[in-house]
Amino acid sequence: MSKLWSDHVAGLVPYVPGEQARMPNLLKLNTNENPYGPSPRALEAMRAALGDDLRLYPDYSALALRQTIARHHGLDAGQVFLGNGSDEILAHVFNALFLRAGRPLLVPDITYSFYRTYCRLYQVPHRLVPLDAQFAIRVEDYAGPMAVEPSGIIFANPNAPTGCALPLASIDAIARARPDSAVVVDEAYVDFGADSAAALMDRHDNLVVIHTLSKSRSLAGLRVGYALAHPPVVEALSRVKDSFNSYPMDRIALAGAQAAIEDEAYFEQSRRAVMDARQTLAGELRALGFEVLPSEANFVFARHPARDAAAIQRALREQAILVRHFKSPRIEQFLRITVGTPEECARLCRALAQILSESH
Ligand SMILES: Cc1ncc(COP(=O)(O)O)c(C=O)c1O
Repeated sequence: MSKLWSDHVAGLVPYVPGEQARMPNLLKLNTNENPYGPSPRALEAMRAALGDDLRLYPDYSALALRQTIARHHGLDAGQVFLGNGSDEILAHVFNALFLRAGRPLLVPDITYSFYRTYCRLYQVPHRLVPLDAQFAIRVEDYAGPMAVEPSGIIFANPNAPTGCALPLASIDAIARARPDSAVVVDEAYVDFGADSAAALMDRHDNLVVIHTLSKSRSLAGLRVGYALAHPPVVEALSRVKDSFNSYPMDRIALAGAQAAIEDEAYFEQSRRAVMDARQTLAGELRALGFEVLPSEANFVFARHPARDAAAIQRALREQAILVRHFKSPRIEQFLRITVGTPEECARLCRALAQILSESH
């Protein structure tokens, strides 16, 4: 706290990212990064972008990348909005769509915790809607009759940190039931096995689908995300963006992102490898006695019936293995574990077997 702060700063509750530790022999399974590197074609395109042109501002409209993304989803470039990572897009979504007098935003009680951080930052009125006992969204909680129309609904699909996916039919039903609310589906992990609501875009002008290149395209360090929405929503996001930073995507990011999306073969191969490793990892964790929620993401969410999750996390850390633990109601006995390579998953399971065999 300082005498120089704006009035609202003391009340902010910043998002706490997973630890970026430096230790020898580190196995980092705590921030859902991809264990495989980016597409070699993306790396080549970024090297080629390192030149005299960097003295020039990037293309303001980022048209080439928006066209590539639009083609990938069978949409028009006018339905694509870009941002410096999907977190930046989410921030603009909260600012542009959820500040409606007297109308709350609906958010699941267990989901990506950044949503509540943005609620605080922008003073968005919101209501937490509990997931059911299996950690699933109940469609009727969002689609049923309500005294006041919400400004919007936001959830991650697959959800974070559970990994559970909601079927497209449920998203379709929610978007249909709430035509005057923005229905925002954060699909950061969708490429690891769930169906994208981009397929519903033609049916609903209130749908906003957000993707990132940080997970399935292995480019967390590049900071590229995009939203798919109808042109009036894209216009609202652009108005906010251009009141904030006109050039959120640098020339290197534009080149790398475009090549990454064009490299379909590499994308298929790396996401398939992660999905295969997830299946093996889930099986091995179950064999060690863990309950593992069904995951369509690049992580699993697991709890042991007899061991404290925070204690397991600490014991793994002593072996330079990082996993994520949230001290939040309902999930404090779970660990969120990013799917690594088969070798990394095997090291994790050996460490867990040893920790569980020790008396406690
Ligand atoms: C559900 C969800 N949405 C968005 C993000 C942010 O991704 P980005 O790296 O594109 O900012 C994350 C990152 O972990 C996430 O888990």
